[in-house]
Amino acid sequence: MSAIIELEGVSRTYVVGDAVVHALDDVSLGIEERSFTAIMGPSGSGKSTLMSLIGCLDVPTSGTIRIDGEETGGMNEEELAFLRNRKIGFVFQHFSLLPKLNALDNAALPLLYAGVPVRERRERAEEMLCRVGLKDRLRHRPSELSGGQKQRVAIARALVNNPAILLADEPTGALDSSTGHEVMELFHALHEEGHTIVFVTHDRSLALECGRIIPIKDGRIGYDAS
Ligand SMILES: Nc1ncnc2c1ncn2[C@@H]1O[C@H](COP(=O)(O)OP(=O)(O)OP(=O)(O)O)[C@@H](O)[C@H]1O
Ligand SMILES: [Mg+2]
Repeated sequence: MSAIIELEGVSRTYVVGDAVVHALDDVSLGIEERSFTAIMGPSGSGKSTLMSLIGCLDVPTSGTIRIDGEETGGMNEEELAFLRNRKIGFVFQHFSLLPKLNALDNAALPLLYAGVPVRERRERAEEMLCRVGLKDRLRHRPSELSGGQKQRVAIARALVNNPAILLADEPTGALDSSTGHEVMELFHALHEEGHTIVFVTHDRSLALECGRIIPIKDGRIGYDAS
């Protein structure tokens, strides 16, 4: 197996006034293709910073990141967006759905950005929403859905381009534990289908369901706890 995500000596520093925050400090890490990994660490330890860097939503202050063999260092915004659109789906704790769009149009958004014609967008979004168990909620807006259903729409949106990598930053953080387990079930199924999954959680029992746990503290990766 080869590492689909590779970080070498990656740091991300924020400067706020006179203060310098080393949100990530010299992190080297490889994540294998088709693996299922949990990232765990205290609040402020750098988990979201790490996920944003892997997801090409942010760029490191120093170090090298390779996604599926492509080095992101020399890429401009447009090239990063293109890479993201093809290879990465991102799920956030608070779903980040557009409130005025229904489930179908929310899930179809990445296809709009990718220039896919409207009819195909709808078809593929509907297929993904059925896949996550929302066949009968296609026309519901976010405010008309439960928390778990909103997260399913967000997962459908993340997967509608069929990216190899699914990144999820505390995807169950805003859900009660049984709804959180339903989302985990879905991740297990997606993992079995061949997706590479990396997710952040504060819940040790969920982390223990994964193949690998990466602990992070003060911006540094510790030894795998698994
Ligand atoms: N845009 C920013 N500007 C300045 N400092 C930041 C910024 N984003 C994050 N930080 C700092 O970087 C550190 C890591 O933040 P990060 O959001 O990655 O933590 P986290 O592990 O995701 O925490 P949580 O569990 O609370 O979500 C924190 O000390 C935070 O204050
Ligand atoms: Mg965070």
